[in-house]
Amino acid sequence: MTPYNPPLEGRSAKGYLLLDFNEMTIETSPKVRQALHDFVDSKRVQVYPEYGDLNEVIASYAGVKPEEILVVNGSDQGIDVVMRAFVEKGDRVIIPSPSFAMEYQSALVQGAEIIKPEYQGPSLSFPLEEVLGLLDSSPKLFVLCNPNNPTGGDISMEDVQRILKRAKEKDVVVLHDEAYFEFSGITAKDFIKEFDNLCITRTLSKQFGLASVRAGYVISQTQNIQEFMKIRGPYDVNMFAKTAIVAALADLPYFERYIAEVMREAKPKVEEFFRAKGVKFYPGVANFLLVEPKEPEKLIKNLQEQGILVRPREDPPGTVRISIGTLQDTERLILAYSRAMGWS
Ligand SMILES: Cc1ncc(COP(=O)(O)O)c(C=O)c1O
Repeated sequence: MTPYNPPLEGRSAKGYLLLDFNEMTIETSPKVRQALHDFVDSKRVQVYPEYGDLNEVIASYAGVKPEEILVVNGSDQGIDVVMRAFVEKGDRVIIPSPSFAMEYQSALVQGAEIIKPEYQGPSLSFPLEEVLGLLDSSPKLFVLCNPNNPTGGDISMEDVQRILKRAKEKDVVVLHDEAYFEFSGITAKDFIKEFDNLCITRTLSKQFGLASVRAGYVISQTQNIQEFMKIRGPYDVNMFAKTAIVAALADLPYFERYIAEVMREAKPKVEEFFRAKGVKFYPGVANFLLVEPKEPEKLIKNLQEQGILVRPREDPPGTVRISIGTLQDTERLILAYSRAMGWS
């Protein structure tokens, strides 16, 4: 195995517009920043974490019971805890491809054999029939990133239900990665009651602007959460994360305004631009677009020279993932993209 080494170094230099990691492009809410300052000033940094009603706060936001929540150090840890709970050396894990790197990484650490049905066709659609067939062969776990990163596409809740039913019959755990839930509105949360084989991971990195503090949670039936608690360390979620989560969830309108601007104003503008210019992109429901430009390397380099970072992808080859920010960011992106292509 090799470490997962995302291209993080140097991003803080030169005031780049960061469209490469699907983060918020504005600062997190002033209330979150104040709460973090207050925590530092509370003279309690030297004390181990105390979580108080953190589970209640998250459960009330997510619309589930507090005992159906495991708070984690970023949803990467959520994915890892679920893998460690269920998967042993030699087990088969189905992860459609391409998808989010840490899903493969955690499965590999467990020594799993990974089966990768490919996203298909001109829209890179989810390979539903192939996945249903593969579930019949009783793998241990199936990962469904919905909407998927990097393709951006989603699958319907009817299809999720079909998968959950088939998986339950075959005793397969389904990990439903909802990292982009707030942008897409897509969640399998209502299936938690019915399906004890369902584990949902969510993050506060993206839509709550908390990528640096590492905050996420798992939703699953209580008996699963109790098992996960044996794996996650008692202090894995630090007090900066706890403080930020509570403050963020008490300031939802700030984040909802950002999400509305990104999804209802900025994203349609970028799509319209790409359509008008004949740039191929994949239809998606999250805060990013997977684009297939003519000369990806040249484009990425040129955008960087103009102060904008985007993410090269090797699968599918020659694609570039571009996060969507505010309207202002979008205007800057469109201008820079046009200059890079020699259109203006
Ligand atoms: C699909 C998906 N899942 C999980 C994560 C990880 O999120 P976190 O920052 O909470 O670890 C990401 C981040 O890029 C993601 O795209």
